Amino acid sequence: MRISVEIKDDIFWVGALDWSVRDFHGYSTMKGTTYNAYLVKDDKVTLFDTVKKPFKGDLLHCIYKVVEPSKIDYLVVNHVEPDHSGALPEIMEAIKPEKLFCSPRGKKALLEHYHREDWPYEVVPSGSEISLGKRTVQFLETRMVHWPDSMFSYLKEDRVLISSDAFGQHWATTERFNDEVPGGELMQHAAKYYANILLPYSGLIQKLIAEVQKMDLKIDMICPDHGLIWRENPLQIVAAYDAWTRQISKRKAVIVFDSMWNSTATMAKAICDGLAEEGVAAKMMDLRVDHRSDVMTEVMDARAVIAGSSTLNNNMLPRMADMLTYMKGLRPQNKIAAAFGSFGWSGESVRMITKTLEEMKFKVINPGVSLQYVPAHEGLRQCVELGRDIARAVKAEG
Ligand SMILES: [Fe+2]
Ligand SMILES: [Fe+2]
Repeated sequence: MRISVEIKDDIFWVGALDWSVRDFHGYSTMKGTTYNAYLVKDDKVTLFDTVKKPFKGDLLHCIYKVVEPSKIDYLVVNHVEPDHSGALPEIMEAIKPEKLFCSPRGKKALLEHYHREDWPYEVVPSGSEISLGKRTVQFLETRMVHWPDSMFSYLKEDRVLISSDAFGQHWATTERFNDEVPGGELMQHAAKYYANILLPYSGLIQKLIAEVQKMDLKIDMICPDHGLIWRENPLQIVAAYDAWTRQISKRKAVIVFDSMWNSTATMAKAICDGLAEEGVAAKMMDLRVDHRSDVMTEVMDARAVIAGSSTLNNNMLPRMADMLTYMKGLRPQNKIAAAFGSFGWSGESVRMITKTLEEMKFKVINPGVSLQYVPAHEGLRQCVELGRDIARAVKAEG
């Protein structure tokens, strides 16, 4: 979209829609994304964030609809990652702002990205305020949400929180507000975003939420740098983050697997039957068709992860190695786990998967099931038993 939207009096969304992006370093963005920037018209005209480099024209076009870019006095960089600052060199050239506000680590990161000593940096410590005229902006450092440099900008009088990567979703829409789209679908995108980007920083985000609650900020609107703006009941996304940061799980198991000739897939079905017999919901994620980032969304609120792969060349299948590497980096916690898989003659996969599950500090409660070639009745009975065993452990936790 190339039109600016007034989201509150004299506050404009001026970002860019990326309908085509399908991969965000390993995260599948099947519905694209948006790079949001916000423009405030006040005595000091201020731009909050920019966009990914190829979208600089979209941003400038949006700005032109509100003011001449050269009329912008201040530029705030809440986060230096290139999806928000890639267009910065060209935008700096176009607007030549009087000041460029950033966090202490933001200045360091900007210098290390763009190597421009001559920009008019103004470092703003956490809690500091600046006046735009009628409005006050308060800055709040939010380290590791999503990079060390990240910060929030809070427009006090308008009760608007510009939250950078926090509370975002990768979802390109012509709508700009949460109350204009189906709530369930929006929350699903927000959950996927949290599971695949912010999950490893859950401890820090939990502290940040507590800090913000202590500050008792009045919030009418949360404006993230990706996706929809939270206008109706904006605190619903803060409540969702609170649950996600504490990694609260449901009575649910994820069975994630890859298979060569369907023996491991058949085992997965039998495990699923075992879980169902004990009344525990299971999600089957077949890595031949399901993307790692969708698996992670399911893993986030699951109490158990059961991972299966056939053995190929004395190893697990490459898609399972990819999955486990990705999952390990995102550090999901408090999971019950087990491994399974079929093999032809050597059969290392179950042992290797189990080792990785243990490295992730998952509670491996069952030695797993490893079966040769095509599973028959007795082998499948073992798989059903594995499912029931996991289900009992899931239920024991409440
Ligand atoms: Fe980021
Ligand atoms: Fe981002």
